[in-house]
Amino acid sequence: MLSHKKKKLKLETSTDISSIRFRNVTIFIIPIRIQRLRLEHMKKLARRKGFEITDIMSENVTHIVSELKTKNEVLEHVADKLVFTVPSSCEILSMQWFVDCMETESALPVTDKYRLPSERKDEDKNESSTDERNVEKTEYKNAKYACQRSTPFHHPNRKLTDALEVLEKHAEFLTDDQNNARALAFRKATAALKAYPSEIKMMNQVENLKDLKGGQHCKQVIQEILDEGFCSEVERIAGSEWYKVILMFTGVFGCGPVTAKKWFDKGCRSLEDVKKHFVNSLSREQKIGIEYYSDLNTPVRQKEAELIRQIVCDEAVRILPETTVTITGGFSRGKEYGHDVDLLISHPEESKEADLLHKLLNKLKSLNLLLYTSTKENNYSESMYSTTEPRKGHMDHYARCFSVFKLSKSAAAVSDINDVNSENKKNSLDNISKAKQSTEKDISDNALCLNEPIGEQSIRDQQIREQSIRDQPINKSDTTITNCFFARRVDLIFVPASQYPFALLGWTGSRMFIRSIRDYSRKEKNMILTSHGLYDKTTNKLLTAKDEREIFQHLCLEYREPGERNC
Ligand code: CTP
Ligand code: MN
Ligand code: MN
Repeated sequence: MLSHKKKKLKLETSTDISSIRFRNVTIFIIPIRIQRLRLEHMKKLARRKGFEITDIMSENVTHIVSELKTKNEVLEHVADKLVFTVPSSCEILSMQWFVDCMETESALPVTDKYRLPSERKDEDKNESSTDERNVEKTEYKNAKYACQRSTPFHHPNRKLTDALEVLEKHAEFLTDDQNNARALAFRKATAALKAYPSEIKMMNQVENLKDLKGGQHCKQVIQEILDEGFCSEVERIAGSEWYKVILMFTGVFGCGPVTAKKWFDKGCRSLEDVKKHFVNSLSREQKIGIEYYSDLNTPVRQKEAELIRQIVCDEAVRILPETTVTITGGFSRGKEYGHDVDLLISHPEESKEADLLHKLLNKLKSLNLLLYTSTKENNYSESMYSTTEPRKGHMDHYARCFSVFKLSKSAAAVSDINDVNSENKKNSLDNISKAKQSTEKDISDNALCLNEPIGEQSIRDQQIREQSIRDQPINKSDTTITNCFFARRVDLIFVPASQYPFALLGWTGSRMFIRSIRDYSRKEKNMILTSHGLYDKTTNKLLTAKDEREIFQHLCLEYREPGERNC
């Protein structure tokens, strides 16, 4: 039996010999303390990168890689299965060597830092020094609520959060209650990672993070990315036709996951298919969404947002002097790109803004600046705070218009030139791919997986959508290529002065931050926070605030600048 095993040099042949880039390296991974699935991924990854990985320990092996702690443990393990002695030239290495090789896509020279020690020299000392390291790494403890943490837009764990956001979106697309709950769990985990102050390199850094504690699935994803640089489940989902098509469809203004699935199930795989099959049943939003798909899925730049604000403000002030128009949403949190422009419109004198909505819209329409509008009158009433349905109080009751604005290309170009001329504008391209994107949810979906009010917009992963658009190019024949304007989503919200700080807080977002601060208010303070006010249920009083800071004070929360609310 042994002799049969002996010197069985047959190597795993799933790697085509011609794809081996590192001819003097044959790796054997000790399959101990590595989950089977993870082991398979490691092998696949290595083979893809041109390494020869063998499944059988033989004299040909040049590098043994292991999660075991010492060389002796490794030798003990292989000795059971071998009749030959492991050649002294064979390197016995920690997993770090493997990870670094994968990351650099090269067969790194072996140095002592990669070699396993012969034995645990001083077990106790070793353990305690490991402990010390752990303490150092796990020093950071995140607060219970995301609104208590500082979450910058640029953070060092983008790779992890991008991956979890794919899983979140995937769950969201499935639309049933259970998956909605999963989506929320992914979102919370992502929020925890976004607030992590340094790059996560070891599992023990995340093990005790709030919102991640029970999340075995999330941890598995993180572990895999730390080990291998990618997560196979995420890759599989992001690469699947279903996900890519649903992602593309939900990029259509007015199309949520339910409609997207309906289109998919009817066999549609492109926007052309949708136009053909659903020509008579598309909503007004969806028609615009398809016609201007390319424009509406191109991130809005800060400069464009400012231009639109200026145009709206000029007209508003002409109608009602002293009207203020303020950019909120992602741009006010420091994002350089957004999916839309959120404008709060107000007037220093209470309720003066009340009839501005229609006058302003008429004016903008007469200037041919609006492609689409959907308006709603103000229907706010203080009685909503005493409602027994807690989430009802979270609805926004301001007069508002969700619109598609026509931004003149020449005006945008002039602003571009100014942009180039002004020296300190950072215009980093990779921000485009990092920019998030949201899309109007399909109202008919009513499947806002995270119990957001109907009409809430959900975050979309721009990077992946861009990829999906590239993968499934749409017929550009009737898109905006020939137009002299860019179609841009603009939200106009009309806010009375007394409620302004609450509106500003609510519309500055992020969505997750607002969810969290509302949760916190309810659970920790017995208060209902909305975009209109703060209601103390203990005293049955509506609290006023002159600015955002005062709202945080009422809630006994440390103030967070908008730039810290990017959870
Ligand atoms: N919001 C809201 N009611 C809506 C839509 C949005 O209160 N019907 C609030 C949300 O709380 C969100 C903020 O407005 O935090 C901005 O929403 P949105 O434009 O969707 O997201 P941004 O954070 O601005 O991201 P993006 O840059 O992609 O636009
Ligand atoms: Mn926005
Ligand atoms: Mn918006």
